[in-house]
Amino acid sequence: MKTADIAKRYLNYFEKNDHVIVPSASLVTDDPSLLFTVAGMVPFIPYLTGVVPAPYKRAADVQKCIRTNDIEEVGHTARHGTFFQMLGNWSFGDYFKEGAIGYAWELLTASEADGGLGFAERDLWVTVYEDDDEAAALWQKVAGVPAERIQRLGKDDNYWSTGQPGPAGPCSEIYFDRGPAYGRDGGPAVDDNRFTEIWNLVFMQDLITNVRSKVDFDIVGELPMKNIDTGMGLERVAFIKQGVENMYEIDQVRPVLDRAVELSGKKYGAEHEDDVRFRVIADHVRSSLMLLSDGVTPSNEGRGYILRRLMRRSVRAMRLLGVDGPTFPELFTASRDAMGSAYPELESDYARLSAYAYAEEETFLRTLAAGSTILDLAVTQTKDAGGTSLAGSEAFLLHDTYGFPIDLTLEVAEEAGITVDRAAFDALMQEQRTRAKTDAKSRKRALADHSVYREFRAQGETVFTGYTDLETSSRVLGVLVDGISVDRASVGQVAEVILGETALYAESGGQVADKGVIVGPGFELDVLDVQKPVPGLVSHTVEVTAGEVSVGAAATTVVDAANRRAARQAHSATHLVHAALRDTLGKSATQAGSLNRAGYLRFDFTWGQALSGETRSEIEEIANNAIRDNLPVETRVLSLDEAKQAGAMALFGEKYGDVVRMVDIGGPWSRELCAGTHVSSSAEVGLISLVGESSVGASNRRIESLVGLSAFRELAAERAIVSQLTTTLKTPRDQLPERIAELTASLKAAEKKLAALEARALQDRVPALAATAERVSGIAVVTGAAGAVASQDDLRQLVLGVRDRLGSEPAIVALGGEVSGRPVVIVATNDAARTRGAKAGALAKIAASALGGGGGGRDDIAQGGGADAAALPAALADVRAHIEATAA
Ligand code: ALA
Repeated sequence: MKTADIAKRYLNYFEKNDHVIVPSASLVTDDPSLLFTVAGMVPFIPYLTGVVPAPYKRAADVQKCIRTNDIEEVGHTARHGTFFQMLGNWSFGDYFKEGAIGYAWELLTASEADGGLGFAERDLWVTVYEDDDEAAALWQKVAGVPAERIQRLGKDDNYWSTGQPGPAGPCSEIYFDRGPAYGRDGGPAVDDNRFTEIWNLVFMQDLITNVRSKVDFDIVGELPMKNIDTGMGLERVAFIKQGVENMYEIDQVRPVLDRAVELSGKKYGAEHEDDVRFRVIADHVRSSLMLLSDGVTPSNEGRGYILRRLMRRSVRAMRLLGVDGPTFPELFTASRDAMGSAYPELESDYARLSAYAYAEEETFLRTLAAGSTILDLAVTQTKDAGGTSLAGSEAFLLHDTYGFPIDLTLEVAEEAGITVDRAAFDALMQEQRTRAKTDAKSRKRALADHSVYREFRAQGETVFTGYTDLETSSRVLGVLVDGISVDRASVGQVAEVILGETALYAESGGQVADKGVIVGPGFELDVLDVQKPVPGLVSHTVEVTAGEVSVGAAATTVVDAANRRAARQAHSATHLVHAALRDTLGKSATQAGSLNRAGYLRFDFTWGQALSGETRSEIEEIANNAIRDNLPVETRVLSLDEAKQAGAMALFGEKYGDVVRMVDIGGPWSRELCAGTHVSSSAEVGLISLVGESSVGASNRRIESLVGLSAFRELAAERAIVSQLTTTLKTPRDQLPERIAELTASLKAAEKKLAALEARALQDRVPALAATAERVSGIAVVTGAAGAVASQDDLRQLVLGVRDRLGSEPAIVALGGEVSGRPVVIVATNDAARTRGAKAGALAKIAASALGGGGGGRDDIAQGGGADAAALPAALADVRAHIEATAA
């Protein structure tokens, strides 16, 4: 049975039983503190908690999920995948335990001919939460499962939550017995490999908080209604139904594994370690493909880092299988072909997402090459110094700075016959992990408990009137202080205010929040921020500047009109730059993020190399021409499907079924889905002036631009600089570049001349200094002060000059000087003096200790320095005393 067929049977079954079929949400969650959709229930959290009223009572879906906390398990077990699809059926206050159990059992055990999954009843076991007698009884009553195949487990297994504050509840799991060949008798309580979990039914009824661990949290209360959240692992059922050994061998994954086998020339099934690598590759390539498809791009933090890690682990595994060159062009196409029928966007968007994947692989291969050079050097140095173990700090540096994996370091070291100080490396890694954990903790704390917004969202969406109005009267629905709903807030306090209608724009789609005030009878609020903490609900963070604001009061939102006007200009300018960019570079230059605020825009897009000056000018000119052409700006509200058909660029984050807003500038030339505020015709933008083009990550570029009055002011400031230069240099504007080049060249020539003169002046001092030599036991000794010198090197040249002038008789020269106010002593010896035992290094050390610093070097030339220039005479005296004492 094909994977797609299993999914189809699932959806058909639940559709037949009155469930609304909902398409998968993106792997990227709306909630910035939750990295990915880790379970089917994530997109439904607002419905489960009742913060947003559920639009249906029953639903079913196939949800894309990513979990990377078990990444080390991938390839070792049959069932750990970083990407997987969760089949789910949902009841929001409709059926509960009995319904969920009845449906699950019927679908699993109905024959294939009847549209079921055709499992034999005797192969299925179930577990229930330790004190859930009701569920245990229902399994017997509704499904006829005999008591001996129903087991009870604790919180660890049979209580489900996301690990964060939110909805949770006891659960009941269904297991498939793979048979005695796979492990011991005794059911899932004894062996969870032989007995493989395939479906989890969560009886979602609690609201939890203070989650300290999987088994340690506080239940704060019951949810407003009892819900059902179930999750069936599509890949798990597929590998069982397809009679293969594990999830990496199912029809949606195996082709990648096979391609890796072909590329490596090795066999699958011959060698355990290689098999694990093949499976890691098959899993990671698929996960990376799906993440890229949902708009994640490789980077060094957050979601992008996880994607990067998956891709790099895959490259690394290929390398261990003996393939050093690029492999993604083969592996990603194999994965696209295997997944494309379920996710057609993989085909249509392949050019964009593969560009990221291939670029990432190339970069990493270069990293590996560079890391190898650095590592080789470190290994050689370790061996030269007589060491047998590479320092842990070197291994960590390679890992941390160059992304060079530790197992590779171990391997190279072993080949070279040395070990790696693994304990020191591990300690450094541990430190880093602790740092990361602290970061993660603070991020988790930032995940606010959104249930406080429930009562407000239940009254409907906040109406945004700001597309047409800059002032709107409404009523205060809620006041929150420190996240707690209160009656009032008074002068000096910072609070969140929720209104029925607002003219203030909440930050979204790259456009920052409006500035403005909220006024009402006896109070005035300064707006600090406007956000949507839950979909559809606007919250204004304000400082009360006068009076007291209370729930129920009349309130008028007043937008700062000048700021809004500039923000509209910037947002429309962003669309113009985007369209101009696509005109210039082609369609593959897709948007990867943007930010716009009054007077400024930033636009990131997929592109592998820097833009030339000409290309930048061309983009700027196209965008400014569009302004001059005074193109009409039209906005339309329509369904996502209609918008897509009209060719609007689909941005990430829109969900199927959503009503979207489409913004055209000059008809289809610039057509984007966008909820932002815009000018009414392009001429209002005024002016666009590109001020920067830089790289962000391996395959993204960033354009920055000033807009409207800010752009004009920037150009005016540049004009003022030019005019100042023409006056100062007495040169007409168009000759300035040449004039400045000339001046720079003549300055360089003058500096060179000066340096030559200084060197000559220095050498002129040699005879006089050499004449001060005194013979100490037959050694010519010069110790003297050279005064201020331009550089340490000058002093060194002077010392060597004096030494050479003293000829072949034994000679020691020590001169002290000041370089930029710091004392330096340089000591040189010749062959004859060294035969008599003189050592420049030892003498330099003596000088340094008098100067309060460090020193040393070779026997023939060495130097010492310090901080106290006044100590120079004493330092030289110490050197001389030492020579006199030892040169007997
Ligand atoms: N939310 C449940 C799970 O992910 C179904 O296992």
